[in-house]
Amino acid sequence: MESLVMINKMSPGVMASLEKIFSVRRYWETEDKAGFLAQYSDARFLATNGHDGCSAEIMDALPKLEIIACYGVGTDAIDLKAAATRGIQVTNTPDVLSDAVAELALGLMLALCRRIVDADRFIREGKWVAHGYPLTRELAGSKIGILGLGRIGTEIAKRAQAFKMQVVYCGRTEKEQAPFPFYTDLENMAKDVDWLVTVVPGGKSTEHLVDRKVLKALGAKGAIVNVGRGSLIDETAMVELLKSGELGGAALDVFEHEPEMSKELWSMPNVVLSPHQGSATDKTRNAMGDLVVKNLVAHLNGKPVLSPVV
Ligand code: NAP
Ligand code: 8YV
Repeated sequence: MESLVMINKMSPGVMASLEKIFSVRRYWETEDKAGFLAQYSDARFLATNGHDGCSAEIMDALPKLEIIACYGVGTDAIDLKAAATRGIQVTNTPDVLSDAVAELALGLMLALCRRIVDADRFIREGKWVAHGYPLTRELAGSKIGILGLGRIGTEIAKRAQAFKMQVVYCGRTEKEQAPFPFYTDLENMAKDVDWLVTVVPGGKSTEHLVDRKVLKALGAKGAIVNVGRGSLIDETAMVELLKSGELGGAALDVFEHEPEMSKELWSMPNVVLSPHQGSATDKTRNAMGDLVVKNLVAHLNGKPVLSPVV
């Protein structure tokens, strides 16, 4: 059987499928990484996730590598330039996770404005017997600005409409089919909306797109929601503005240095935190895994892969 270098573990079903087809080499279990790579230097197949990705150094250590299959849609942690230079095919898992990530985005927004997490704690602490819970805010009638009306952004827009929100968006290109007002300038959009949802890819070209100026434009009336990548937001500025009340709230699934973050966020009542779990449902992780397997098997059989990253 061909060797498959796996940078990290995937769900049990995916591991079982891969083990039927490949000799799985477990990079994550090994202390001596250099020795491991030298031992399997003839590997043509590699699987990784969106967090650990694959560096040019790993590609150099595996000179026969032909394909990197990513268990995730975001490929910012894979050195795509290095892969292209070496003629290595990269694949990812688009579409199959869009519903799960969009659901989480709306879930975090509801949790933030209806204070669902805090209200649950209020009951568990026995406070309801003394008095009712303070009044909250709702999504209906408010305006959402989506940075990145791609696959996930479009699913978020559909759900926001179902919640009777007004949708606008900003991005690199205007989408002709999209029935929503387009902003070319993010700061201008931030001024006009109650919710700013960021769902563009990570990497150098999008780093800190949401900077202090954009967050100030969103202001005390607004909340930032990030289900894209932590690198999109200047997290230091965000924490400062949340603390000073110049930014209204934050609902975050991703962080600049995850799993680390400023512990000040932990005690803020106007913040909802989630451990990068946008795609983390059984159904979606299985669908992502199936696509990883299908891409690897297609390449093994000399057929075109299903979801190439171009
Ligand atoms: P997608 O379909 O490629 O959409 C990305 C959108 O971002 C596109 O509209 C794209 O514009 C826009 N964009 C790209 N670069 C930009 C830039 N420099 N400035 C402004 N806009 C830019 O991707 P997707 O499937 O929706 O996924 C989006 C991202 O979500 C992923 O890359 C990943 O980082 C993140 N994600 C997070 C989770 C989670 O668990 N929280 C799960 C899955 C994905 P164009 O249309 O002009 O290309
Ligand atoms: C995964 C993601 O959690 O698809 C992405 O870009 O961020 C998530 O689906 C990530 O790839 C780690 O597996």
